Amino acid sequence: MNLDGRVAVVTGGGNGIGAAICRRFAAAGARVVVTDIDLAGAERVASAIDGVAFRTDVSRQADLVSLVGHVEQRVGPIDLFCSNAGIAIEGGPETPDADWRRIIDINLMAHVWAARVLVPDMLRRGQGYLVNVASAAGLVTQLGSAPYAVTKHAAVAFAEWLAVSYGDRGLKVSCVCPLGVETAMLTGADPRIRALLGPEALSPDAVAEAVLRGVEAEEFLILPHPQVREFVRRKVDDPDRWIRGMQRLQQQLDQIS
Ligand SMILES: NC(=O)c1ccc[n+]([C@@H]2O[C@H](COP(=O)([O-])OP(=O)(O)OC[C@H]3O[C@@H](n4cnc5c(N)ncnc54)[C@H](O)[C@@H]3O)[C@@H](O)[C@H]2O)c1
Repeated sequence: MNLDGRVAVVTGGGNGIGAAICRRFAAAGARVVVTDIDLAGAERVASAIDGVAFRTDVSRQADLVSLVGHVEQRVGPIDLFCSNAGIAIEGGPETPDADWRRIIDINLMAHVWAARVLVPDMLRRGQGYLVNVASAAGLVTQLGSAPYAVTKHAAVAFAEWLAVSYGDRGLKVSCVCPLGVETAMLTGADPRIRALLGPEALSPDAVAEAVLRGVEAEEFLILPHPQVREFVRRKVDDPDRWIRGMQRLQQQLDQIS
């Protein structure tokens, strides 16, 4: 999709990767709606790109419904919706249910709710683009965080399902799966995870450039870090060997105190 003159909405657009995507889409000619739970952040980004800011908490279906209604009334039909807002928490099965539910709502259900409100109209128009930001953690795993690994796998699965089910009716879907990116999410991570991902981390602008190129090429799987393709290949080719390799990596992390 060529973004010139298109209406694009980006959740979590007030900071990090989302803010960079907003700036890159605007530079490509899109009319960008920047939405975030952090309204001040959204307004800052929107004012720099002549965009529109909205406050949306993507963990609430009602917020997503009213966002889409507002944008369609005030800006126009949505050509591209980028579900980028996401959170990370550490832990395994001991993580309290309330925390599991919150990360499931933000990292997965927000994508489901956006599709629920947008897809019928996109199918009627015979066009529309959903860009869902997952993570390399959704293709391989996330050391130290079961809730993040699980919700990102689910986000990848949902994006695949949408592409398979509606692709022949004009809906385009991309799923973005970066490894480490230099944002507040990485800064706030366990220092051992930062040490692991830091050396290969990309800037948010580099990720946004990869997203724009992927959207222009209408590519399903957008991998800003090309090495992730090889990680996935190794996992599928020999899952037991891949698990042993990841166990060794986990042990190395455990030895760093
Ligand atoms: N940073 C990384 O290393 C990395 C790697 C792979 C994937 N990702 C994914 O990229 C996406 C963006 O992450 P980031 O690194 O820019 O993080 P970030 O923390 O810098 O930005 C996330 C943005 O989402 C917003 N947000 C959080 N909860 C929200 C909610 N309930 N409703 C609306 N907005 C909300 C925050 O206010 C913030 O502006 C996430 O989905 C994340 O999982 C990040």
